[in-house]
Amino acid sequence: MKVLLGVTGGIAAYKAAEITRALVKRGDEVRVVMSAGAREFITPLTFQVLSGNPVGTEIFDPNYESEIGHIELARWADVVLVAPATANFIARLCAGMSDDLLTTVLLATRAPVVIAPAMNTQMWGHVFVQRNIAMLAEHPGYHVVDPDSGELACKEVGAGRLPDPEVVLEALDRARAPQLLAGHRVLISAGPTREAIDPARFLSNPSTGKMGFALARVAHRMGARVTLVAGPTTLRAPAGVESIPVNTAREMHSAITTRAESMDIVVMAAAVADWRPKIVNDSKQTKSSISPTLELEANPDILAELGARFGGSDASGPLLVGFAAESDYIKERGLAKMQRKQAHMLVANKIGGPDSAFGADSSSVVILTAESSMEVGPATKEELATRILQVAAAIQKSR
Ligand code: C5P
Repeated sequence: MKVLLGVTGGIAAYKAAEITRALVKRGDEVRVVMSAGAREFITPLTFQVLSGNPVGTEIFDPNYESEIGHIELARWADVVLVAPATANFIARLCAGMSDDLLTTVLLATRAPVVIAPAMNTQMWGHVFVQRNIAMLAEHPGYHVVDPDSGELACKEVGAGRLPDPEVVLEALDRARAPQLLAGHRVLISAGPTREAIDPARFLSNPSTGKMGFALARVAHRMGARVTLVAGPTTLRAPAGVESIPVNTAREMHSAITTRAESMDIVVMAAAVADWRPKIVNDSKQTKSSISPTLELEANPDILAELGARFGGSDASGPLLVGFAAESDYIKERGLAKMQRKQAHMLVANKIGGPDSAFGADSSSVVILTAESSMEVGPATKEELATRILQVAAAIQKSR
């Protein structure tokens, strides 16, 4: 992706260097344009070295114009990001001014524009700034990244901080992604569940939640309103996604079944424990008191229950997408599971061996629907999530 990064003059300008690095690291091509104010905080050389491209600073610079003209630059960009965007820059942009290179390129570009404001919290709250932000947010080609709250460089506490690079990059990807799930509500389960034996011991499985979190991130990017019900994981919930942490299968059951009816798509990517210990001890058992035989009882099968409520040809409920982790006969067992649980779609993947799906960043899957079967991968879980949600969006559209 070709990213034009505009940097304007706030103390957060140094964070734009980190953003440039993160973009280049993931393979994006970056060209930086700095306002005069930005150059008071950080030098063009920093961005030139990090981006590997000359940095634009002046509108009337014959050297830079011979490298790439301002109109060419506006056409070159797949997406424009301004981070940090100061109150002054935002006001000039909203007034339609073109009194420096960055504002000129912004008027000339047709690429989507992502604005990441950062400023003193009083300035951010000022009615004039908010009026300008509202104007940008209403424009279909513009996306505003909400500033973070916290302690600011001026020692005041409140909203106004430039968010972490990963949040800004996510906003960039969202601005570029086809909005296949715009207006859709998507519920996703992720990770393992833990079934307590006593306060120090539990039964669980090696699921890390990576697949479910990738689905949540990509669904949000595609425009969906996403709720992520996640068992214990070390992963951070993607920005913009409502996250509901749970521990046990029964907690997951309640979190999912109470919300499913109001959803358009439900994706059960969690590795829900099928069994739980029948007796849970309130205090830790000693080695000598613990029995070598554990009596178990069945957990509710959440997907099967949703299948009974919403499965089959009735299109009034949510589209149900299940997962199956199998050691062998992946496709056959996946198909059998899709029918047994009355899911509309099922993603089957392999566990065990060197290419095990559990915990890996990449995997191969078979996406099964009533009409089709599609093998995808090896691919990253984010790429798999994109394919899975493209299929789900297409089915949902035709229901
Ligand atoms: O039967 P199995 O556990 O292999 O089925 C896998 C699918 O069923 C997954 O989509 C998983 O999230 C879901 N599941 C469930 N509730 C359970 C067990 C599995 O929803 N108790």
